Amino acid sequence: MSLLPKIPHVLYGGDYNPEQWPEEVWEEDVRLMREAGVNIVTVGVFSWALLEPRPGEYVFDWLDRLLELLHANGIHADLATATASPPPWLAKLDPESLPVTREGVRLWPGSRQHYCPSSVTYADAARALVEQLAARYGKHPAVALWHVNNEYGCHVPACYCDQCAAHFRHWLQERYGSLDAFNEAWGTAFWSQRYGDWDEIQPPRAAPAFRNPSQEIDWQRFCSDALLELFLMERAVLERDAPGTPITTNFMSFFKPVDYWKWARHVDLVADDEYPDPAEPSSAVDFSASCDLMRSLGSRAGWVLMEQAVSAVNWLTPNVPKHPGKMRLGSYQALARGAEGILFFQWRASQFGAEQFVSAMVPHAGTSTRSWREVVQLGGELAQLDSVLGTQVEADVALLFDWESWWALEVPGKPSPNLLLPDQIKRWYRAFWEQNIAVDFAHPEADLSRYRLVVAPNLYLLTDDAASNLERFVDGGSTAAFSFFSGIVDSRGHVRLGGYPAPLRKLLGIVVTEFWPLPDDEPCSIVLGEQRYACEHWRDWIELEGAEVVGTFADGWLEGRPAVTRNGGAWYVGTRPNPGATAELVRRLATEAKVASSVAAPPGVEAVRRSADGRSLLFLLNHGSQEASVEIAGEQLDLLSGAKHSGRVVLDPFGVAVLTT
Ligand code: GLA
Ligand code: ZN
Repeated sequence: MSLLPKIPHVLYGGDYNPEQWPEEVWEEDVRLMREAGVNIVTVGVFSWALLEPRPGEYVFDWLDRLLELLHANGIHADLATATASPPPWLAKLDPESLPVTREGVRLWPGSRQHYCPSSVTYADAARALVEQLAARYGKHPAVALWHVNNEYGCHVPACYCDQCAAHFRHWLQERYGSLDAFNEAWGTAFWSQRYGDWDEIQPPRAAPAFRNPSQEIDWQRFCSDALLELFLMERAVLERDAPGTPITTNFMSFFKPVDYWKWARHVDLVADDEYPDPAEPSSAVDFSASCDLMRSLGSRAGWVLMEQAVSAVNWLTPNVPKHPGKMRLGSYQALARGAEGILFFQWRASQFGAEQFVSAMVPHAGTSTRSWREVVQLGGELAQLDSVLGTQVEADVALLFDWESWWALEVPGKPSPNLLLPDQIKRWYRAFWEQNIAVDFAHPEADLSRYRLVVAPNLYLLTDDAASNLERFVDGGSTAAFSFFSGIVDSRGHVRLGGYPAPLRKLLGIVVTEFWPLPDDEPCSIVLGEQRYACEHWRDWIELEGAEVVGTFADGWLEGRPAVTRNGGAWYVGTRPNPGATAELVRRLATEAKVASSVAAPPGVEAVRRSADGRSLLFLLNHGSQEASVEIAGEQLDLLSGAKHSGRVVLDPFGVAVLTT
């Protein structure tokens, strides 16, 4: 079973922008697409100005010809609604449709995504365009998927204009009902911030000092919701006028401005854009984390890597290409972690425009290139991997992750400026990755019953529901570990009184009475068992209330005091342990929770299993530039090479094997 009924194979393709090329080139494009095994291309993402050159005047003949050509060649379309970059006429018609920054600067056309999410002019024009597209192409045999807008919030996550201010007030009225409830939630008794009328409320525009944290959290919620409203508006048109075709939009990994837990409920499949920096050694691990997040967002039903680079992009410093083999390796990483399609940005490298130097499936230098050969090789391999479709990654561990808590944590004015959630998540994630233990991400209020172990890094904002969910989880015999500065505030951003972390105090059998954040240059270490490890950023002053001590601070003012505790299945880590200590804690937690690695593999070899209905595929991915040897059980077939291996498999540098018995 595939995610797209029209394409019963692993999806393979990329963003295709044929409007940048004369039509003669299209013929060559489809010929090369077939050579590369491409079965789907995303078209029309930035075509609004061509589809509607003047207000209300639509031109579809070129798109008609393109879709026919694709169809005649057996290639499907992920048809974009083209609303991500409005034509210049929209700004001329209504300059207020343009977004405004926190400092009050208006952003003008000439790039992309220059629209205010609250602009009625923008929304009306977008709706009209989507209605045209849905009516014209809703039943087109080439159209396998709708691609709404593009990367919502990418460049303009928030607009601070007056229309957005009014929209925000409306959103607040819906959320709080009365001004009193609203004032209470925002804690406006502080710094003379009490509002006497809804119209006095503003977005968090540039201000003299720290802004109200409750205002900041609600603003982030609102901004994510305002974009979601636009998505749902387009989705409703497509459902009404072009029913039956799946609808998605492309997410961007751990993208702070948009709450993908909330959004994921409204897409028919999760699609994601990923650009790990080839120059950054840790990017392979972070990429796996993103893939796991996407799988988790998609309720484990499968997701699609909608965009990745064949080689370099043009927005890093510098833009390093992917070493031969690494594009293939990254593609299999995504596939191993549940992807059902591998797509790129973009098909043919642009000759002009701001992305001239972004790599593509067909590079400027053409097809006598190593990168083209890698594209063709990968397409050929994926075409043989139908057996992957529908298989699942079964994880016994979940990392708890919540956008609202992320927003709240990173509002300035905290005990330490070093509390960046992605850093905390990545430190824990890497320890599981290195031990080849499969991990899902989960919302703290989600049903956790399928997991044996959950880890909550810096889960700063914790609702009552989440707290009782976690209590139930541990009471049921499972293991949970919380890192410092978790369970500190409620959903309004108010501190939960009664000793930190108040809602978890009983569960953890401890109370934290004071925070002792560390200056960057102050050494800090803990002792775990016989071993001493460095730690950073933070120390908690922990008083025991039934918990036992697992590790202690080994220096400084807190020397000898508890640093790591456990109370039955509930563990607490009152500092940020270095990678070695985190790995040791993960080993202990995994043993405790009876969670196993997919396979024992040497360092740098990633091992992930996908399985279903008796089928089991073991993906082995060598991230090292040296050969690596992995012990395997019995005789297994490598679906990529066709070779049978017995007892062990030797992987090339950056090599991959997909093994089955
Ligand atoms: C994003 C966008 C694409 C393109 C690429 C370039 O993923 O969706 O349109 O800009 O980045 O890296
Ligand atoms: Zn606005």
